[in-house]
Amino acid sequence: MKKCLIVYESYHHGNTKKVAEAMAAVSGAELCTADEAQGRDPDDYEVVGFGAGIAYGSHYEKLRKAAAGMKLSGKTVFVFSTSGTGSKDYNGKLEKQLADAGAAVAGSFACKGYDTKVMKLFGGIAKGHPDEKEISAAKEFARSMVK
Ligand SMILES: Cc1cc2nc3c(=O)[nH]c(=O)nc-3n(C[C@H](O)[C@H](O)[C@H](O)COP(=O)(O)O)c2cc1C
Repeated sequence: MKKCLIVYESYHHGNTKKVAEAMAAVSGAELCTADEAQGRDPDDYEVVGFGAGIAYGSHYEKLRKAAAGMKLSGKTVFVFSTSGTGSKDYNGKLEKQLADAGAAVAGSFACKGYDTKVMKLFGGIAKGHPDEKEISAAKEFARSMVK
């Protein structure tokens, strides 16, 4: 297994944290938040994953800034997100940011995450997500990233 670091940011309902922890459990990856990433050297890892919830169409700014502050040229990276809709399209902007920084984007994963930003009065959307099936898919994805 390749040595992996996963940098994540999760503040709304801990949805992305759940996914990041599941990924780490099967891949042996070390986990850190965007704030903690400052103290990490990407050169200590063969693969670096970046994941966050989506706010207004983009990964949380804290995560994007943490990624921008790391030397990723030539590094293999992957991207993941949770969002109300679960759309993988949201990963595109961060993938581009990382590719522009010289990283090789090896994969992208997305799933739904409980969202009370919209439809709050009606209990939000994507309640119960990420669910068991999505967590299994996240694990499968992480395994493939460190193979
Ligand atoms: C301020 C804010 C903006 C959001 N914008 C979007 C959005 O543009 N598209 C979407 O599908 N979900 C959106 N969501 C829902 C979150 O992406 C979703 O609940 C995510 O799983 C939260 O992750 P977390 O619990 O790890 O922080 C938004 C949530 C918040 C709080």
